[in-house]
Amino acid sequence: DWNAGNVIAEQVERIRAQVGNARVISALSGGVDSAVSTALVHKAIGDQLTAVFVDHGLLRKGEREQVERDYVASTGVRLITVDAADIFIGHLAGVSDPEEKRKIIGREFIRSFERVQRELVAEAKAEGESVKFLVQGTLYPDVVESGGGAGTANIKSHHNVGGLPDDLDFELIEPLRALFKDEVRAIGRELGIPEEIVGRQPFPGPGLGIRIVGEVTRERLDILREADAIARAELTAAGLDQEIWQCPVVLLADVRSVGVQGDGRTYGHPIVLRPVSSEDAMTADWTRVPYDVLARISNKITNQVPEVNRVVLDVTSKPPGTIEWE
Ligand code: XMP
Repeated sequence: DWNAGNVIAEQVERIRAQVGNARVISALSGGVDSAVSTALVHKAIGDQLTAVFVDHGLLRKGEREQVERDYVASTGVRLITVDAADIFIGHLAGVSDPEEKRKIIGREFIRSFERVQRELVAEAKAEGESVKFLVQGTLYPDVVESGGGAGTANIKSHHNVGGLPDDLDFELIEPLRALFKDEVRAIGRELGIPEEIVGRQPFPGPGLGIRIVGEVTRERLDILREADAIARAELTAAGLDQEIWQCPVVLLADVRSVGVQGDGRTYGHPIVLRPVSSEDAMTADWTRVPYDVLARISNKITNQVPEVNRVVLDVTSKPPGTIEWE
C-alpha cells in the first residue's frame, strides 16, 4: 500500500547516497511540487541545500512574498531570491510562439541557477566541497506530457523537462518523478509544510508568460496580474478552491473587441477564465462555476482593469483542450 512516510524514508536514503557531501541547489517556484521536493531534500541533507527562487517577472500577485516569508518560516531552508525579471522579459521580447516561449523560460531558469551556482562554488571550495546537483519538482505527468514516457507524443515542453539546455551543468535530483499531485500533497503534509502551500492549486513554472497569448510585455503582465488576482480572490471567497483544480486566467493580448463604458467606446482585450476540475491534470473537465460568481468576476475585472472590456469562459474539457492555453 502507498504510504507517504515510506516514500519519504526511501527518498531520504536515496538522496543522501546520491549527494554525499556535495552542496545542492533547489529550484523553488512557489508551487506545491518544488516546495515539497525542496523540503524532502532539506530533510535528507539539511544545510547542504540552498533553495533558489527566481523572480522572473512572470509571477502572480503576492507569490514572491509567500515564498520568502511563509515557506522559509515553515521549513527553515536557506533561500536566495534572484531578481531576473529584466533578463526573462528581455529574452521574451518579440516572441509569440508558445513552444519558443517555453524553451526560453526553461533555458533562463537554468542560466539563473548557474549564476547562483557560480557564487556558491567559491564559498564551497573554501571548505573542499562542490555544488553539482539541482533539485526539481518534476512529477510523473510532466514527464509523460513532455514526451518522456513510452509511446507518448510531445504535447508541451514543460519548462523543467523538455526545456532544459543541452549543456546542462548539473546532475538532477527529481524525487517526485514517479508521483502524482495528490501523492505529493500527502508527502508535503507529512513533512509539516503548511496547508496554504501544500493545498495550493497548480501554477506552471513559466507562469504568466504562457497565459498571455501573444508577445509577453511588462504592460501585458501587469494587466493579467490584476485580472488574475481578482479572479482568484473571488473564487476563494466563493469557497470553490477545493472543487476547482486550478483556474488559469488568460489574456488574449492580440485580440481586441469593441465595447462601451460610460459614454465612450472601448477597444480592449478579452480575458479568458479557464476553471477546471481534475484528478491529475492528465484529463480535466471545465468546472461549472455558479453564474453569480462568474458575474462578480466579470464585473470586477472589467471595472478595475481598464484595458479589459470582455471576460469569456472556456468550456472545453481536456482533451481536446489542454488546461493552459499554451
Ligand atoms: P496542460 O496545459 O498541459 O497542463 O494541460 C497540465 C498541468 O501542467 C501544468 N503545466 C506546467 N507546470 N511547468 C510546470 O511546472 C510547465 O511548463 C507547465 N506547463 C503546464 C498546468 O498548469 C497544469 O496543471
